[in-house]
Amino acid sequence: MAGKVFFSVSMSLDGFVAPEQGMDDPKGPPVQWMELQQWLFPLRFFRENLKLGEGGEEGRDNDIARETFERTGASVMGKRMFDLGEEAWPEEAPFHTPVFVVTHEKRDPWERLGGTTFHFVDEGIETALDRAREAAGDRDVRIAGGGTTIQEYLNAGLVDEFTIALSPVLFGSGIRLFEGVDAGRVALEPVGAEPTPRVTHLTYAVRER
Ligand SMILES: NC(=O)c1ccc[n+]([C@@H]2O[C@H](COP(=O)([O-])OP(=O)(O)OC[C@H]3O[C@@H](n4cnc5c(N)ncnc54)[C@H](OP(=O)(O)O)[C@@H]3O)[C@@H](O)[C@H]2O)c1
Repeated sequence: MAGKVFFSVSMSLDGFVAPEQGMDDPKGPPVQWMELQQWLFPLRFFRENLKLGEGGEEGRDNDIARETFERTGASVMGKRMFDLGEEAWPEEAPFHTPVFVVTHEKRDPWERLGGTTFHFVDEGIETALDRAREAAGDRDVRIAGGGTTIQEYLNAGLVDEFTIALSPVLFGSGIRLFEGVDAGRVALEPVGAEPTPRVTHLTYAVRER
């Protein structure tokens, strides 16, 4: 049975998933970016997956991060997310599955230790998704980000479900998750809302209007 297509991102309370610029600033990413993702850093799963060492917090945030990883049989991401990750991910990239990068660039697959191979797809979002579905088997496909790529999949009616970790931080400007969404087409059905001390996890099923 084919899996679902979903995304799972951290979003600021005012609706942003990334700062507009400054991610590649030599002084490090903007402070709001760290605050947006703050709920992930202390987790046991996050530390294990990035080989940051033993220990870490357990609990509901950790379970959610692990469940998200375990349901994912393949990921799709935009080229800007990939470009930033190429600099930042360790040699053993944290996906451990095939990843399909939607891009205008032609590039050979890039195999990393630990089972992650990045495939570069210059034939559009539907081809990237078809290839990801095939690679994922009966597990789900995660549209990993960023905002531009998620919106393209949402507007094309190709997302079944999504989860947002709503973080207690304000960006004021940046890359808005739902900027340009085809609001006349996308209807949402609440599936779950789970607050933890750090963030609120909101899950919606996506329906056509
Ligand atoms: N908050 C979170 O949880 C979260 C999660 C993931 C990512 N992020 C952040 O999101 C940011 C990146 O998001 P973004 O919206 O700027 O960019 P993005 O979606 O990662 O990438 C956009 C780029 O992907 C390529 N692309 C997208 N659709 C395409 C298509 N149909 N055909 C060909 N190429 C296509 C284009 O690059 P080319 O033309 O160069 O090929 C485009 O400029 C990063 O800062 C990242 O850290 C946040």
